[in-house]
Amino acid sequence: MPLFSKSFLGIDVGTSSIKVVELQKSKGIALSNYAVLSADYFGEGDFQTREKGMLSISEDNISEALAVMLKEAGIKSKQAFFSIPDYATFFTTFDLPSMSTEEIPEAVKYEAPRRIPLPLSEVILDWQLIKGSPSDEGRTPLRILLVAVPKEVINQYQNIALTVGLKVIALEAEVFALMRALVKYQDKSNIICLVDIGERSTTINVVAQGILKVSHSFDVAGEDFTKAFSDSLQIDKRKAETIKRMYGLTDKNPGIKEIIKPKIEAIIKKIQNITDELYLEDKERIGKIIISGGGAMLTGGADYFSKKLDLPVELADPFLDIFYPPTLSETLKKISSGFTIAVGMALRGFNK
Ligand SMILES: Nc1ncnc2c1ncn2[C@@H]1O[C@H](COP(=O)(O)OP(=O)(O)OP(=O)(O)O)[C@@H](O)[C@H]1O
Ligand SMILES: [Mg+2]
Repeated sequence: MPLFSKSFLGIDVGTSSIKVVELQKSKGIALSNYAVLSADYFGEGDFQTREKGMLSISEDNISEALAVMLKEAGIKSKQAFFSIPDYATFFTTFDLPSMSTEEIPEAVKYEAPRRIPLPLSEVILDWQLIKGSPSDEGRTPLRILLVAVPKEVINQYQNIALTVGLKVIALEAEVFALMRALVKYQDKSNIICLVDIGERSTTINVVAQGILKVSHSFDVAGEDFTKAFSDSLQIDKRKAETIKRMYGLTDKNPGIKEIIKPKIEAIIKKIQNITDELYLEDKERIGKIIISGGGAMLTGGADYFSKKLDLPVELADPFLDIFYPPTLSETLKKISSGFTIAVGMALRGFNK
């Protein structure tokens, strides 16, 4: 490997597993390594817990797990980008009256305390103009997307990195990693809905012309699908997980499909609410949905969503534009959608 070859790590600490992707620049961007470690490694227990809507991550477990992963997989790069779970990120949008570009930061600062449920001294703020133009002389209000991350969460990730000997180049809300990995150049003129279905939570994001408009998380995800099987069939979690992965939403066993359907319908309803609102407010319609996360790998899932929502639905393939040895293709196909956030984070190193 050339001495100065650039390689970066994308690290996604999820509830049920940690995913690490190492990307390297050669002719194009190539996968040099990847690793995943399930929280089961520590017996029962997750890498994150949520109480009263607040996220708490297990610093010790995550550091230990990461150290094992880096060593076992032989990961070389120390340059890391960490994703911050949407649960630890507050997103809000609000309108400002028309004003000049210079006036916006002050106005955002004034609005922020009323929009963020934590004291400003405890959060890092970021914002983007997502609608309207400061230069159109008062014709339209300006819509702002405000993002706040608790400093506490950022400190925890910094500590973890320090413990395992990584350098944090940046931390970023998961949704921006999803966008980087999935919204292609040709999609920039379209309105896309990115739905990430994890273990504990699902996040629905609307991206219009490459800009995030809406990000909404809620607690129905893979864990609930498994629980539906274990409750209904009176089996343990492990067996329920196997059945979920085997049958998913296919018609192979209609009885099985009925068990999981209400949970999927709950996600579909949320997507419908968001698409309806988008139409009511802005007369805009979604052109395509991309589902990602481990939960999206449910067999027959994309087809089911597509039929119900009457929209094209794709399963995320974050490795589509990345070079990797052909021998890996079967393995990657089985796990790729779960690696979307990790890939999107690592891609940040290449200004993607
Ligand atoms: N082939 C599959 N079919 C169905 N579900 C699957 C499959 N593979 C993984 N899953 C499910 O994906 C979920 C884990 O997804 P993911 O790794 O995206 O979650 P996470 O990032 O750990 O959690 P969260 O994002 O909620 O914090 C689990 O519920 C797991 O059962
Ligand atoms: Mg996740």
